[in-house]
Order: sequence, then C-alpha cells, then structure tokens
Amino acid sequence: MYKTHIFPFFMDLGMRGRLFSRYRRTVLRGLQGDVLEIGAGTGLNFPHYPSQVQEIHTIEPNPGMGSRAEKRAEKAGIRLHQHVLSAETLPFTDARFDAVVSTWTLCSIPDVQRALAEVHRVLRPGGRFTYVEHGLAPDENVRRWQHRLNPLQNVIADGCNLNRDIHSLIEQAGLVHVQEDAHYVEHAPKTVGYFYIGIAEKQG
Ligand SMILES: C[S@@+](CC[C@H](N)C(=O)[O-])C[C@H]1O[C@@H](n2cnc3c(N)ncnc32)[C@H](O)[C@@H]1O
Repeated sequence: MYKTHIFPFFMDLGMRGRLFSRYRRTVLRGLQGDVLEIGAGTGLNFPHYPSQVQEIHTIEPNPGMGSRAEKRAEKAGIRLHQHVLSAETLPFTDARFDAVVSTWTLCSIPDVQRALAEVHRVLRPGGRFTYVEHGLAPDENVRRWQHRLNPLQNVIADGCNLNRDIHSLIEQAGLVHVQEDAHYVEHAPKTVGYFYIGIAEKQG
C-alpha cells in the first residue's frame, strides 16, 4: 500500500517543483533518436523532452507509478512503451538505444552496478547516458551524515541511498564522461542536495 499508492503520490508532489524542472530541462536538452528512461516514476520528465523525441521506452518497477506516467505522456504527445521491470535486467537487444536517461534514480536501484552495465550494453557505440542524480558529497562532515542517515532514508524513501558515488559508478560501468557538473543545490539539506549532472558516452 505504502509503496504502490502513498509513495508515488508524495514522490510526485515532492519532485514536480521548479528546481527539479530546471534540472530536467538541462538534462533532456538536445536528446534525439531512440530513448530509454530508467526509473521513470510518474513521468515528470515527459513535458521536458525536446519535440524531436516522440516515442520513449521506460523502465519502472513500481506499478503504482504507471497511470500518472501514462497521462503525462499523453499530454506531452509522447508514445510511451512502459516496462514494469527493474533496470538490472533490461529486455532489449545490445546497442538498441541512442540515449538512456536517468533522473534521481541511481540512488534507488538495489544493484546499481548491474543496472549501469545493462545501460552500457543497450547503448549503441557513441550513444549517451544523460543524468541528474544526488549522491555522495565531497565534504567529510556531510559524508558522515550521509552514511549515518542512510538506513533511515532507505526506509522512508523506498530504497533511496544518500551516499552513492555517482561519478565513479558511471565510470566503473565503462562509460566515459563527456561532461559533468556536481554541486550543492540551493535550499536543500546537503545530505540530499549534492547533485551530479552530466553526460557519459559509450565509446565505439
Ligand atoms: C526518486 S524516484 C525518481 C523518479 C523519476 N526518475 C523522476 O525524476 O521523477 C526513483 C525511481 O527509481 C525507481 N526504481 C527503484 N528501483 C529501481 C530499479 N531496480 N530499476 C529501475 N528503477 C527503479 C523507483 O521506483 C522510482 O520511481
């Protein structure tokens, strides 16, 4: 009940604000071709996809997110193919996509290394992984709190982790950073407010 009804409602409410929308637009700018979004949630990214993206595949294991996502896709004029699955095992052939999108999702995937290996597999050579994520902060005192609060965050935010080193995880998956910016966002606690925003490429 909490996972499929209450959490989707509050997540949607909490993540539809102006700050999040600004990052969504930044990450999705210039996308084209065949696109996969992992952990698409309630489809809050859909209104921000550039007009050249008219069809997307999504991976989202929580069935409670689907109806809101469906409505948002319809409103945005996007043909949506929803897959109620976890990103650790993607049901696509190798090199299927031009781009894979992830927004605040790597924190929540139980086996994130495996999911990123799958992202690498389904991207074509030269294809791009584009992301905005929160994660491990650079300052030792903030990190200490991130480690301390992680078990609580795990419970209240449906498996979300505060302390993942997003930059290294992406690199370990064999993706090559093309650009990345990482900073504390304004008006957010530092434990959840260190954002990594970037593009990483699968080399040919
Ligand atoms: C904080 S929400 C972000 C949702 C959406 N990306 C957004 O920006 O609004 C994290 C999402 O990751 C999803 N998730 C959790 N485990 C996952 C997994 N193994 N594979 C793919 N997505 C997963 C959750 O169900 C949730 O929708």
